[in-house]
Amino acid sequence: MEPLGTTPPVTDRLARPLEDLRISVTDRCNLRCRYCMPRELFGPDHAFLERDDLLSFEELERVVAAFVDLGVSKLRVTGGEPLLRRDLPELIAKLAALDGVEDIALTTNGVLLPRMADELVDAGVDRVTISLDALDDATFRAMADTPLSVAAVIEGVEAAKAAGLRPVKVNTVVQYGVNDHQIEDLAAWARDTGVTIRFIEFMDVGTTNGWLRDRVVPADEVLARIASRWPVDPVDGEVAHGDADGGFAPQAVNRDGQRVQVAERYRYRDGAGEVGVIASVTRPFCRTCVRARISAIGELYTCLFAAEGHDLRSLVRAGGTQEQLSAAIADVWRGRSDRASELRSEGGLTGPRVEMSYIGG
Ligand code: GTP
Ligand code: 5AD
Ligand code: SF4
Ligand code: SF4
Repeated sequence: MEPLGTTPPVTDRLARPLEDLRISVTDRCNLRCRYCMPRELFGPDHAFLERDDLLSFEELERVVAAFVDLGVSKLRVTGGEPLLRRDLPELIAKLAALDGVEDIALTTNGVLLPRMADELVDAGVDRVTISLDALDDATFRAMADTPLSVAAVIEGVEAAKAAGLRPVKVNTVVQYGVNDHQIEDLAAWARDTGVTIRFIEFMDVGTTNGWLRDRVVPADEVLARIASRWPVDPVDGEVAHGDADGGFAPQAVNRDGQRVQVAERYRYRDGAGEVGVIASVTRPFCRTCVRARISAIGELYTCLFAAEGHDLRSLVRAGGTQEQLSAAIADVWRGRSDRASELRSEGGLTGPRVEMSYIGG
């Protein structure tokens, strides 16, 4: 067995390395977004995970260390709503202390950030992404199925900025007839507020969110609407090539052959920062997917659309060594051939799949 830290990079069947780990710390949430946790299915009768089933912070630290040993340097803590996990800053501090961890991001709905942002930054959070789907209260309340107002999220955005986090990103899932009328207002607000907003195509993750192809607003339409008000250029290194129907698609790799992020990035010509689109339906990015996910109970998922995870918790609880954990993860990754979003384009997805609130974005 090779000593820790010298393991050769592990790649999957499509030659994709393992670089990015998304860690779900709870399956609970204080909102009930209709496209994620519809209240009829995630109400009082829903069986959320029991506390004893969740990986403890010590167990999580061991699991994450095993991923880091295989080459992961970017972590994203997610949920459900990760800020509902008790003592989250303690976990962040443990993860930040791991040798090899370069970046810790958090995906949150922002509501609890005013209370927690400073503490999270002190613990080691580098970046946050806050979900916000509308600026008008009626649309926001209908989408998130909450009596809270948009101000609660905006206070979270302000708290993140005040805590020194840069850039603060905002994610907006867009649907025709639900919130597509908010695109320009949200873009204008993001420009004024100095946050980077990314518009996400509504995806058919899970099986409970009532996904309809007709509801998906193509990223090119979002971009065209924004660019007609505030002209944009693709960010350096992401070459706009104009696809078959004259779209805005930057290539999946830049001129140096480096991978681009999930988001396609555009810079406003007037200097008001950046805007992004995440075109997971119309321009799937599976061939550059370097992301693994673990559920709050320690299952490894190799795709957002996977039906099942691979149990790592048993190995941890049975006293497995770090080497054994890394080897188990590497085995799963080597066998990986997931490309669900591309397969959707080629003819549709069928069969069971995990819910996004369970494994996180
Ligand atoms: P950074 O680059 O770390 O800032 O994050 P990111 O650009 O990956 O963004 P983030 O984690 O906020 O993801 C934004 C959204 O993109 C998610 O909420 C998903 O909707 C979508 N997304 C992220 N990763 C994947 C993926 O692997 N597959 C698919 N299909 N969608 C993804
Ligand atoms: N399609 C696209 N994005 C989604 N998210 C949740 N469900 C979906 C979906 N069906 C986004 C949330 C949040 C992130 C965690 O994932 O809006 O920004
Ligand atoms: Fe909660 Fe985020 Fe799902 Fe909305 S999208 S219900 S905020 S986990
Ligand atoms: Fe990766 Fe699966 Fe998303 Fe494709 S659909 S980018 S393989 S997580």
